[in-house]
Parts: sequence; C-alpha cells; structure tokens
Amino acid sequence: MADVPESNDPTPIWPIPGEQTDEIVRAAFPLRLGLAEGKVALVTGAGRGIGEATARLFATEGAAVVVCDIDVASAQAVVQSIQERGGEAVAVAADLTKEDDVAAVINTAIDRYGRLDCAVNNAGISGRFGSFIDLPLHEWHQMINANLTSVFLCLKYELGVMAAQGAGSIVNVSSGAGVVAAPGLPHYTAAKHGVLGLTKCAAQEYAAKGVRVNAILPGTTRTPMIENFINGDPQIEKMVSRGIGRGHLGEPNEIAEAAVWLCSDRASFVCGESLLVDGATVCR
Ligand SMILES: NC(=O)c1ccc[n+]([C@@H]2O[C@H](COP(=O)([O-])OP(=O)(O)OC[C@H]3O[C@@H](n4cnc5c(N)ncnc54)[C@H](O)[C@@H]3O)[C@@H](O)[C@H]2O)c1
Repeated sequence: MADVPESNDPTPIWPIPGEQTDEIVRAAFPLRLGLAEGKVALVTGAGRGIGEATARLFATEGAAVVVCDIDVASAQAVVQSIQERGGEAVAVAADLTKEDDVAAVINTAIDRYGRLDCAVNNAGISGRFGSFIDLPLHEWHQMINANLTSVFLCLKYELGVMAAQGAGSIVNVSSGAGVVAAPGLPHYTAAKHGVLGLTKCAAQEYAAKGVRVNAILPGTTRTPMIENFINGDPQIEKMVSRGIGRGHLGEPNEIAEAAVWLCSDRASFVCGESLLVDGATVCR
C-alpha cells in the first residue's frame, strides 16, 4: 500500500458530506465558476432586496453587471462591494418610468461592455392596502408606471439590442399577485398580471430571433419592501408565514438563483414561462 503523507492541518481539503457545501465553496472561490461567465447582465432595482441579490449572484457567476436603481447611492454601494470581491460592475441611476432614462441605461451597458446578454427587470414598488373604491387615481397611475410601464420600457430597449445580437435572455419580476388576487392591492395585482402578459407577448414575438423572455413570481421575501410592512413585529411575520407552505419567508438569494438560472444558457429551451418561486404559496 502506498504511503499516505500525514498532515498536521486539521482543515478538511474538501467539504465533508453534511457540511454547508455551498457556503464552503463560495468562501474558497468568491467568484463561482460561471453560470453567467463572460455575459453582460443588467439588473434593475439592484440597489437592495431581490435586485441586489441578483446583481451579486450574476457577478459571482462571472457576469459583468449593470447595477441600475433610482437610488444611485445604493447602486454604487452594491457595485463597490462586487468590485471588492473581484467582480465587474457599473452603477447607473435611472427612473425606469421615464423612457429617456431607460434608453440611457441600455446605452451605458453597450458603451461600457459592447453588448447585453441578460436582463432582470426587477424594479418595483409596493402599495398602500385599501378599499378598491377608495383607491385614488394618482396612486393607480403611480403603481402602473412603476411596476408595469417600467417593464414595458425596459423590454422595448432590451429586445431591440438582443434581437440585433441574435441572442439574449430576459427575466421579468412579477409576483404571486401576477396569478392570484392580492386583496386590498388592486393596482399591484393588475400591474403584476400585466407583467405576465408582456412576458408572453415578448416571448412569442422574439423567440425566433434568439431572445428568451420569462418571468419569475416571487413569494413573500425578506427585503426592505417586506420589512417595512412587517415593521419588526414577530406576530405579523408569523401571520404572513402561515400562508407559505415552507412556513417562512423566502430570502432574496433564493429568488436570485431562479432569475440567474433562467437567464443562463442552461435554461435554453425555457421561453415564455412564469416560474413561481414562493415556497408553495399560490399552488392549490
Ligand atoms: N419582496 C417580496 O416579498 C416580493 C414578492 C413578490 C414580488 N416582488 C417584486 O420583486 C421586485 C423587487 O422587490 P423587493 O422586495 O426587492 O423591493 P425593494 O423595495 O426592497 O427594492 C426595490 C428596488 O427597486 C428600486 N426602484 C423602485 N422604483 C424604481 C424606478 N422607478 N426606477 C428604478 N429603480 C426603482 C428601489 O429604489 C429599490 O432599490 C419588485 O418588482 C416586487 O414587486 C417582491
């Protein structure tokens, strides 16, 4: 039998079965070996929450990331932290309800990186719960602009660039409220249903041009949007969690994993899909 050299180092060379393999691998390789290697990815609303987690995961998986948010300071902080880990990213400030801003975001991606391979249209707002008949028209318009018109505008410019390249992949972020009602939030429900309509329409029109368009429908996820609603009250969190099959809120990185996979070449025949990522909330 060959001699096995003895080592005094107690650190295991490779994760032991049962250990938190993913965390150990991530610690050893801050940049994972690339689901998005060599790609250029745009993430909107990437200054915090689901968008931030998605931008970080894209960078970890090897993409150059365009980190877009209306809050430029948060976008810059995300970019700095990606760069500190050896990733590539640029911050862009934009209000995605404005067409000129959307055009400028796409131009920044092209000027800086020469192409756009992936886009996650994630930016959105929540709304005030209230009675249908008391909803002021200006709140309706604000919601539709932020959660539906913004997605239309992003698609309009992303599809043009990707069709010209003959390749690309887009993920729109809808919600469980894209397929079932969120009572008290008719404007949010309408906007998120609309996102699925845009997704199907774009998928049909652009599939033959090499562009895939899909949607993810997150369930309740621990982000600033939801933390504002829970307001640190464990009773509210418990009540919300009761409606989730898994029994707890989702984490932003769990939504990001689905978005980045859908954007990747591994999902090459997934097109026009609406993927629930909600720990068994909406399914019945
Ligand atoms: N968190 C959840 O439980 C949940 C559930 C279902 C769907 N979603 C959807 O996921 C997306 C992200 O949600 P989140 O919880 O991370 O929200 P969040 O409020 O934590 O983050 C949203 C980000 O979008 C940015 N943004 C908002 N309006 C913008 C605009 N006009 N232009 C540019 N940036 C803008 C904000 O500045 C913020 O950084 C939203 O579309 C939301 O509707 C969230």
